Amino acid sequence: MIEKNGAMTFEDSPYIMEILTALRDERTDSINFRRFLSSLGRYMAYEITKTMNYEKIDVSTPLAKAKGVKIKDMENVVLITVLRASIPFMEGVIKVLEKARVGVVSASRGSPPKFEIEMNYVRIPKIKKEDILIIVDPMIATGSTLVKVIEECEKYGKAKRRIILGVLAAPEGIKRIKEKFENVEIYVADVDEKLNERGYIVPGLGDAGDRAFNTEFE
Ligand code: URA
Repeated sequence: MIEKNGAMTFEDSPYIMEILTALRDERTDSINFRRFLSSLGRYMAYEITKTMNYEKIDVSTPLAKAKGVKIKDMENVVLITVLRASIPFMEGVIKVLEKARVGVVSASRGSPPKFEIEMNYVRIPKIKKEDILIIVDPMIATGSTLVKVIEECEKYGKAKRRIILGVLAAPEGIKRIKEKFENVEIYVADVDEKLNERGYIVPGLGDAGDRAFNTEFE
């Protein structure tokens, strides 16, 4: 992992970078886009387990006793899916963090002129002090949605760690989140250059939701 603009990135992992390259490629169709998003979720969740607490345990093989490991934190993960693009990403994440309690929120930018974030669906489990809260949202662009989601999560309890797990972030989004909250860890495959005037990450990968679900709006 390499720190970049306040986020932890996987720029040093050629395998994760190769999947990201495929996601960025405009020729990647929806079927493969979802497939790569799910793979990325799986490998990034695996990387996050390296930051979790574990204990050494004894195990009996059919032949003898051996030393083993139990990742204690695995029992205390709360995952929050931010609709919509996180659906295929989450599919991979939960393959690794399979004991997680899962919440779902829908958050989208409202209409002009205010562009306020609207949360139409919120289902968040109770969050305990021993939990690791992981908010799964592929694109950390302006950071406004995530600020709202974190604020919402705070109503359900205080976790010992708060993590945002994404594919790409813009420096503006990371800055916004870090200014607003202390102790929020951000893990992304990479941090891109900037946001464009429509709030898209550049070079980015386009609209992750549209690319995953084969849709086009306005
Ligand atoms: N959401 C996306 O899907 N893509 C971006 O670049 C920014 C937000």
